[in-house]
Parts: sequence; structure tokens; C-alpha cells
Amino acid sequence: MTDAELIRIAREASLRAYAPYSHFSVGAALECADGTVFTGCNVENAAYGEAICAERTAVVKAVSEGYRSFRRIAVWGGGKRYCTPCGACRQVLSEFSPEMTVLCAGDGDDYVSFSLSELLPHTFKLLEGAV
Ligand code: THU
Repeated sequence: MTDAELIRIAREASLRAYAPYSHFSVGAALECADGTVFTGCNVENAAYGEAICAERTAVVKAVSEGYRSFRRIAVWGGGKRYCTPCGACRQVLSEFSPEMTVLCAGDGDDYVSFSLSELLPHTFKLLEGAV
């Protein structure tokens, strides 16, 4: 699957966002090592702090279905611009695939591509022998 195809799936997922408080819809498309794709959208709540980001929705869907190894995630959000995953999402993705690729896109055809380790160097991890 091309980057553009994965981004298109993320964009479709953003249409299912539940974002009545921020009015900021985000969609994610998470590609697993075997090519399976899980989508996610942000899901907000009247208790604002309980909002769940699109990226974490996708990760939780994948892991709960038995998938733990990820190649790429496309994140669509921001309309004319794009957004990069928040710190919490970077940490959660990094738990499973610290070297995965993160594609960030908005309305335009252009997008940016990062390695997750570039977005979150020195991720928190319990090291062998540290406890
Ligand atoms: N949000 C995401 O879903 N992913 C991001 O990468 C950034 C932020 C959501 C959380 C909240 O519902 C809204 O965007 C505004 O922060």
C-alpha cells in the first residue's frame, strides 16, 4: 500500500471522529507488520480530559485483536495543515514499534514522514536489569 493510500484511509476515519468540544477531527490508519490496517478516530467526552486520540484508538483496536507489530501509521488532522501525534500517543506507539514510520497529512497532497524514534527519542522503557 502506498503512503497516499494509507493517508486516504486515515482521512476517511476522521469522518467518524466524535469531537463536539474541540471541533478538531483526527483520523489514523495503523498498518501492521502483515499489512492489516486498523483505523481510529478521536473520541471526546464531556469530561474533557477523557478524550482519546485517533492514534491510540487505532493501537488499542489492533492490540486487542492480537496485533503488536506496526510498520506505519498515517495521521490525518488539521485541515490545511497537519498534526503530529501527541506525547502520550508517541509513548503508546513506541511500546510496540519504536522504529515505525509516522505519516502526517492534512488536506493537501503533501505530507511529512518521520521515524517514531525521531519524534520520541529515549522513550520510557523498563530495561533488563533495571529492577
Ligand atoms: N488529537 C488526536 O486525536 N490526535 C493527535 O495527534 C492530536 C490531538 C485529538 C484529541 C482531541 O480530541 C482533539 O484532537 C484536540 O486536541
